[in-house]
This record gives sequence, structure tokens and C-alpha cells, in this order.
Amino acid sequence: MLELVVAGITELGGGVRALTLRDPSERTLPSFAPGSSIAVQVGAQVPGAAPARNSYSLTGPGRRPESYSISVRLDEAGRGGSRWMHGLQPGDSVTASAPSSAFPPVLSARHHLLIAGGIGVTPILSHARAAAEWGRSFEVVYAHGEGGGAHREELEELSGGRLTVCGSRGELRAHLAAALIDQPLGAHLYVCGPVAMIEAVTSAAGAAGWPDSRVHAEAFTAPALEPGEPFDAKLLRLGRTIRVESGTTLLDALLAENVPVPNLCRQGVCGECRVAVRVRPGSGDKDTAGIEHRDSFLTDEEKGRGDCLMPCVSRPRGEILELEL
Ligand code: FES
Repeated sequence: MLELVVAGITELGGGVRALTLRDPSERTLPSFAPGSSIAVQVGAQVPGAAPARNSYSLTGPGRRPESYSISVRLDEAGRGGSRWMHGLQPGDSVTASAPSSAFPPVLSARHHLLIAGGIGVTPILSHARAAAEWGRSFEVVYAHGEGGGAHREELEELSGGRLTVCGSRGELRAHLAAALIDQPLGAHLYVCGPVAMIEAVTSAAGAAGWPDSRVHAEAFTAPALEPGEPFDAKLLRLGRTIRVESGTTLLDALLAENVPVPNLCRQGVCGECRVAVRVRPGSGDKDTAGIEHRDSFLTDEEKGRGDCLMPCVSRPRGEILELEL
């Protein structure tokens, strides 16, 4: 983990603020690849409980950086992480993970088609910055609503005439209809934004003949989930039972009872919160069918075994779930 201080804050409009984070002794920070993110511990640490962490894309230069830049959109309906980030002042301390990369550029690509929606611009900005620095062939499509458009000027500077801004879904659709066909062989597509936009872009790419291996996506927001039915979680090793109400995730219920479970994305994407589930001998399909897996991390085979789940999004179909906790 890295202990950092807030060295600067810039309000970008549309409820987005950019934060600059430095090492307190001004040491150089670990380098990172375009599309990397850091997990920032948000909120006060509760003794015995796993800290809440939010993941933010790094938007600045990645080679031996003197600071990290992240941009945070205030989400009033969220779990409080963005509110905490918006309460930070210059000089405040934050704890963050070292950068990790799950959305890197393919360096052998002949051309990079970078597509951003809303605050999903942050990893796309770092892709554009690196592509401009290394002289790679690229273009950027940025879709945002009125009042949005964080980092647009910076993208314009980096991209020269290679930036297209779309102010509506219709404009984006119309632009992509031509742009997805007019690409050199060996081009790669990168898209980051809301889930609905990613689905629209990836299915348009599929329809235009792009192979999956050349399409890379990073979802910025997960779709809202059904609240689900209440159930009891039996913690077999701890000898306790926890009631999980409708609308509360199993992860939140465990953390509220001070049962430490590592977590990061809370959207069923990162795999951090995986918990083992007791499979009763001979229960077979009955038990497998007993979990409603809502994550996009476990493989179909793992889901089929029914011996684990991601408690940030998934829940049992029945009234009782037995956990190896
Ligand atoms: S916290 Fe990321 S999958 Fe659950």
C-alpha cells in the first residue's frame, strides 16, 4: 500500500474533481501502464473490518511519475466513497494500492480506436496520452451529455484533429456506423463508460465484423441489481448466523457484522470478495442451482460447481446459505 498526500484539487465541472496525489517525501511513484488504476481506501478505518476501497483510473503520465492524477465524479446515490473523496482537502492523507492494470493497450495494434462515455474518459485519457507520446496511430470518440465533458480540452490537445465528440446516443451510433467499418486491419477498439454504452459499442463492433480479441471494454458503472429476497447466512467456522435483508448485499451484511472480507469493485468484476460456500455431499445440482450468480468474474464452470460466490452482488435462491467463514 502507498501512503500519499493530496497535493492539488481541480474542479472539472459536472460534479467531477481531479486530485493530484504525491508521496509525502516527494519520492517518485511506481510507474504504470495506460488504463491502470489504484484502489483508494475511502472513509475512516473501522477496527477489525476490511477497509472500503474505490478504484480510480490514473489519468496522468505513467513513466516514473512524481504524482498520480485521478478524477472522481460525485455520486450522491452511491455508498459514500465519492462523497468522502470530494471532502478531501490539500494536505490530507490517503492510502492507496500500487497501480494495477486490467485495461492495457495492445502494443502490436496497427491503430487504436478509443471510445469514452462520460467519466469513463479517465482510462481512455491515459491511453491517448501514451499513444500520443509514443507516436502510435489512434483516434478518440468521446460521448458525453450537456455539462459533462471532463478532460475534453486535454483530450483535444493530445489528439489534435483525431477527437470526435458526440452529444447524444444517436450521434455516437451514427459516428460508429462509419468509424467501425473504416478501420485498418489489425486495429484494436477500447471502450470505457456506462454498461449500456459498452453493450451498444461492442455489439455494433461485432456486427461490423470485429473479432472479440480486438475489442476491449471496461465498464464504469454496473447495472442496478434486483434487491433479492431476505436470507440467513450461516458462518460455519465462526458459528454465527447473519440475517441479510432484501436490498442489502451479503458483503455489506458481513462487513456490518465485522466479518472481514476483502473487497474492491463491489460490482462483481474484480474477484476480491470471493467467499467459499459449503456444498453438502450429494446435493449436486440442487446446490448448484441454489446460488444466483450475478458477477462477471467467475467462470461458468466455477458457477456450475456452486462452491463459491461473490457476496458483493450474488445471493442464494433459497432462504439459507452456508459459508466457509
Ligand atoms: S468486490 Fe469485486 S467482485 Fe466483489
